[in-house]
Amino acid sequence: MTPQPRGTQGTRGTRGTPGTPGTPGAPGPQRIAVIGAGPGGLYFAALAKQLAPQREITVFERDGREDEFGFGVVFSDETLDGIAQADPEVFAAISAEFARWSDIDIRYAGQVRTSGGHGFAALDRNRLRAILQRRCAELAVDVRYRTPAPPVERLTAEYDLVVAADGIHSATRATYPEAFRTELDVRHCRYIWLATDRVFEAFTFIVEEFDFGVLQVHAYPYSATRSTFIVEIAEDAWHRSGFEARAGHELARGESDTESVRRCEELLAGHLGGHRLIPNASRWIRFTTVRNASWRHRNLVLLGDAAHSAHFSIGSGTKLALEDALALAAALSEQPTLDAALTAYETERRPVVESAQRAAQASLEWFETIGRRTGQGVDRFAFNLLTRSRRVTYGNLRARDAAFVDAVDTAVGGSPGVPPMFRPLKLGALELRNRVVVPPLATFTSPDALPSAFDRAQLTGHALGGPGLVIAGMTAVSPEGRATDRCPGLWSDHQEAAWSELLDSIRAVSDTPVGIQLTHAGRRAATTAPGPDGIGRPLAGGWPLLAPSPLPWDADSPTPHEANEVQLEAVTADFAASAERAARAGFDALELQFGHGHLVSSFLSPLTNHRTDHYGGPLSHRLLFPLEVLAAVRAVWPAGRPLLVRISAADWAPGGTTETAAVAICQALAEAGADAVDVSTGEVVAHQRPPYGRGYQTPFAELVRAATGLPTIAVGAISGHDDANSVLLAGRADLVAIGRAQLYDPLWTLHAAAEQDYTGPGARWPEPWRAGSRRPPGPGADRVAPRLHLLREPAPPVHRRWRPAPVEE
Ligand SMILES: Cc1cc2nc3c(=O)[nH]c(=O)nc-3n(C[C@H](O)[C@H](O)[C@H](O)COP(=O)(O)OP(=O)(O)OC[C@H]3O[C@@H](n4cnc5c(N)ncnc54)[C@H](O)[C@@H]3O)c2cc1C
Ligand SMILES: Cc1cc2nc3c(=O)[nH]c(=O)nc-3n(C[C@H](O)[C@H](O)[C@H](O)COP(=O)(O)O)c2cc1C
Repeated sequence: MTPQPRGTQGTRGTRGTPGTPGTPGAPGPQRIAVIGAGPGGLYFAALAKQLAPQREITVFERDGREDEFGFGVVFSDETLDGIAQADPEVFAAISAEFARWSDIDIRYAGQVRTSGGHGFAALDRNRLRAILQRRCAELAVDVRYRTPAPPVERLTAEYDLVVAADGIHSATRATYPEAFRTELDVRHCRYIWLATDRVFEAFTFIVEEFDFGVLQVHAYPYSATRSTFIVEIAEDAWHRSGFEARAGHELARGESDTESVRRCEELLAGHLGGHRLIPNASRWIRFTTVRNASWRHRNLVLLGDAAHSAHFSIGSGTKLALEDALALAAALSEQPTLDAALTAYETERRPVVESAQRAAQASLEWFETIGRRTGQGVDRFAFNLLTRSRRVTYGNLRARDAAFVDAVDTAVGGSPGVPPMFRPLKLGALELRNRVVVPPLATFTSPDALPSAFDRAQLTGHALGGPGLVIAGMTAVSPEGRATDRCPGLWSDHQEAAWSELLDSIRAVSDTPVGIQLTHAGRRAATTAPGPDGIGRPLAGGWPLLAPSPLPWDADSPTPHEANEVQLEAVTADFAASAERAARAGFDALELQFGHGHLVSSFLSPLTNHRTDHYGGPLSHRLLFPLEVLAAVRAVWPAGRPLLVRISAADWAPGGTTETAAVAICQALAEAGADAVDVSTGEVVAHQRPPYGRGYQTPFAELVRAATGLPTIAVGAISGHDDANSVLLAGRADLVAIGRAQLYDPLWTLHAAAEQDYTGPGARWPEPWRAGSRRPPGPGADRVAPRLHLLREPAPPVHRRWRPAPVEE
């Protein structure tokens, strides 16, 4: 064959009969090379051939047809629906082999907790491959085993399309690093992928504590005789465990670390019931999350693990590869050109994959830091584990298996029927009727530094909305401490009187406690109110800035003065004076802003504190000024009223506050008299890169709570009551702060009560609004659906376990 450079555009001229765009059966590219006969490559080849039988499809696989790697693969009902529709024959063949069950067992601290209603189907990965191999043979796909793919440049020249389905270590991908811009994130746990001839009845998580650390097992049945059994351990525990020495020698491709396998067998004997662990090319590895900025380069496209990976703890690798195959085959038939098809494939798949990767990231981090939760009771631990990826939530688990959630509720001192967000909490002497906080939400409406009419309206609205606590937005302790020229302050009698009068007006209509956040904005002071982009600009004719070190916020900002001791003493005195005023004005709680790059925060972070005196250097020194401020405030703030501190537990920039430092900071705050920590992150440096996403700051609240025992407030992209309940019941925080969602809906808490049919004391409707306390009926409420089935299918049982008939070996 004479190689002809083709590329994306060239394929137009190479088509056979032109097909109709959007019609199944449109031919698309005629000559396709697939690198790798894993599940992704084979399924794609079969579907692409089925859609256009005249196509010539060649699959290159370096291993033999009979070579077997891996054990069981798990699918969700959603993936199965896709496979059923795309290729009923493959679906029928794999369905016949499924192990099916609905329970998840969590074995921890010598006990087992079971959550039902989940719905799993699993089969032997090698049986899946065999079924796909057979399908490819029936469809006359040319699969060449024991044939490493020819160089990719040759393939892209010879074929209209080259599909790189060559797995997580894809050599094809590595050929074009600039085109794919691959990011490989090697994670912090070690794991070893094994099977056992113990047939588990359910998806089983085993968490065992040893003197070297925690071993966790992800196990699930996949046939009448086998279960997958993945043993995972944090890197530091792995080093202590002695496994390292055993894994030290070089293993050939396909060889297993049998010494480690035997040791796992000994350590986990109690869960194996006399059964063996069965290796297959099993050795300790670290999971790599693969991300690619692009999945395509001219007529070469990545598929499955080559394009992306998602930690095995959410059981998605094979599922994502099959879904990719389906989407790519469909796009080739639906789109008019190869270019359009590859674009459509990536456009359709990328958001799905990224969503799975976000869930996988939360899940893998949960397991990497499992030691934070091993102090929890078994019920809470089980709930925490199940909600780790944020995809499964309180409401979700309740819908699947209400008895499980009721048991967790009861075990942590709640009562079934009272959602966790509506349980009271005592902070200091203050009784909060529920666990919802309105965090500080500045209004930027105070040109005269007095609380504005809008502050009054907003705080009153939020108080009427039924949260446990409302905190007024950042209020400066001095004129130079104002973040913007439209922020209020609390340094004068006039301001104190205005705040006091505002509180009186709220109290006339609501008994919701109201706190205030005090701050000195440091190098972030003297800006305009934030514009539509959420960013304030340096004020023309602003005032001199104060900071630990003369480092401007960004290139457009003025350089702050390095604060001297006299200035710091003055700031400390200002904080104390404002706190006294806040107490006299009648605030129920006080929050100190020690985060977000304001003055005190800048002392804490090594990125912003470069001082060489005793206020700089190691954390113990960087803590000095913050602790002076806290001590001065604690001395004047009434003992029974909660004193909260907001921190930035991470800077999201290299060299910033570490998790260890965040814990040490909170420990010091606790010792100095803080009653709770409001755990935020970021805004410390302008070049931060936070991984924004649902509940992305919550793990820091959980870290602080577990490490210090201090009550924590979780904040940041927690918007639904379901997420709030999940955070609270899992013990990740004691309170949840809901910011923007309460700007969207100031009655967020009361609406959450209505949506959950909760009418108890945790949600108090203002008396004049009582008539509105039920959710209004929707537009279709008067439509009653007729019966559409002769006999309704009975609801599936909540608990379905895998109990195959015993198989004679
Ligand atoms: C040791 C191990 C065990 C696993 N076990 C399981 C399991 O039991 N269950 C599960 O759900 N997931 C398992 N996985 C994850 C799973 O393999 C992937 O998520 C899933 O198979 C992705 O499918 P894929 O087709 O994209 O890639 P893969 O299944 O990795 O397939 C890639 C294929 O490409 C071939 N290949 C690579 N380079 C070349 C080349 N140059 N020329 C020709 N062929 C090439 C490889 O031999 C392989 O057959 C396991 C992973 C590992 C590392
Ligand atoms: C309009 C607005 C004003 C804010 N003002 C403050 C503030 O004064 N002090 C503060 O610490 N955080 C402030 N924040 C941050 C919020 O308190 C909260 O931490 C953030 O919005 C994340 O929570 P959310 O995702 O629920 O909105 C503000 C946020 C918004 C949207």
